[in-house]
Amino acid sequence: MTTDTVAAEPIYAAFSEQEQAWLQQNRDLLLARFGHMPKACLHVFGCQQNVSDGQRIEGLLQAMGFGFTEQPEEADLILFNTCAVREHAQERALGNVGALKKWKAQRPERILILCGCMVQQEHVAQTVRQSYPYVSMVFGPHAINHLPQNMYAFLTGGKRVFDLPQDESAIREGLPVRRTGVKGWLPVMYGCNNFCTYCIVPYVRGREKSRRPQDVIAEAQRMIAAGYKEITLLGQNVNSYGKTLDEPVSFAQLLRQINALPGDFIIRFMTSHPKDCTLELLQAMRDCDKVAKHLHLPVQCGSDRVLKAMNRGYTAEQYLSLVHTARELMPELSLTSDLIVGFPGETYEDFQQTLELVRRVGYSSLYTFIFSPRKGTPAEKLPDPVPAQEKSRWFQELLALQETLAAQQTAGLCGNTYRVLCEGQKKPGLCYGRTDGNVLVEFPGDAALVNTFVHVTVTEALSFVLKGTVSQ
Ligand code: SAM
Ligand code: SF4
Ligand code: F3S
Repeated sequence: MTTDTVAAEPIYAAFSEQEQAWLQQNRDLLLARFGHMPKACLHVFGCQQNVSDGQRIEGLLQAMGFGFTEQPEEADLILFNTCAVREHAQERALGNVGALKKWKAQRPERILILCGCMVQQEHVAQTVRQSYPYVSMVFGPHAINHLPQNMYAFLTGGKRVFDLPQDESAIREGLPVRRTGVKGWLPVMYGCNNFCTYCIVPYVRGREKSRRPQDVIAEAQRMIAAGYKEITLLGQNVNSYGKTLDEPVSFAQLLRQINALPGDFIIRFMTSHPKDCTLELLQAMRDCDKVAKHLHLPVQCGSDRVLKAMNRGYTAEQYLSLVHTARELMPELSLTSDLIVGFPGETYEDFQQTLELVRRVGYSSLYTFIFSPRKGTPAEKLPDPVPAQEKSRWFQELLALQETLAAQQTAGLCGNTYRVLCEGQKKPGLCYGRTDGNVLVEFPGDAALVNTFVHVTVTEALSFVLKGTVSQ
């Protein structure tokens, strides 16, 4: 959802004088270029971190005078915030850019921007340089805050701008964010140090960096004041939050501090890496009344041999023991996970161990992926003898198992009543939200319910969605 359902957060701009000058000059230059205050249309691929980055980019565009539209035809600027995690995500992004050649040719003053993880890879930036000459600007995840300056350089220099620094040492705080919708994304850290052997993220997002707790808390307070009733704390591995700070703080401590803020809101977080998921964190989850009892705990695979080759840092038994502890502390806990099928060298026996683990845990939902080789990662070079068709069969087997297990799980929820934040309407008269355990639930209701808490009693359970009625 991208409609403005919650009052926009006030702009707490911490721009330097030079940046303010660029913003003002860009406003004038854009007005002269288009003859009206321009409109931007953003498309975001990939994870919630990218959605959150998109909101920061929109904050900067807004500070230059941009309005926003979801219609490409109305837009003067289109920006793709791209993802590199699997080949498919890249193909889709480049396909979309290809389809905009005509859009750009219709009004050559239009601006097309590509940013995010995909273009941070040198070979992709090179492809864009050579094969997509109508892309005006390209910048990576570490260059988001350079947008005022880069826009100025583009508008005055008449040349395409490529800004792809490797990493940026300090986190910039206080810049504007244009939040829309009901869900409030709040990054607590950036980057990743884990180097799972299949994953491109550490190469394009750089090393792990945590925001200071006082900055996270100040932003959470602004979000609560702006009307947000759900705050999701984001990081590739939130469990290692705070380790790089001058005064180290644990993620469990941060959770407790946010939980203590006044207001009626829910706290969610993602993603938790099993190797860093501590008892301290599970106890904080149990103790904090605002923290949803849902843990997204990606396991990736159930075979120790493959987990080792993935460099995940735990065995299947260690993972199961963690799940056991978590459920002992929070019997109502709902678990979700990410799984990769067909990692190089994985055999059908390994895959069977994944199925066994999935059966033993009982996830409420799963995000499943077929291994996609990423350029420059160790797994790209491993022998991968299993044919794609075979991997696809395994993948279907996993989906079928999960569908059966999820149906059993959700059937047990019938008759329960949950306090649900209404996130929006699927169609007029039909609202949706999520249970505390993050299971999607649909219920009759009008638009006035959006961004309010309602009590929903589950009347019917399908595998992926619950149906319910508002009980007060
Ligand atoms: N940091 C999180 C973690 O470690 O669980 C998630 C990172 S990634 C953005 C989201 C998911 O994409 C991963 O958990 C993994 O299942 C999947 N993924 C990452 N690289 C992949 C690849 N090369 N092929 C297929 N799936 C991949
Ligand atoms: Fe990728 Fe692993 Fe980091 Fe997650 S923890 S972002 S899967 S390297
Ligand atoms: Fe996210 Fe994709 Fe980048 S999953 S961190 S947008 S590679």
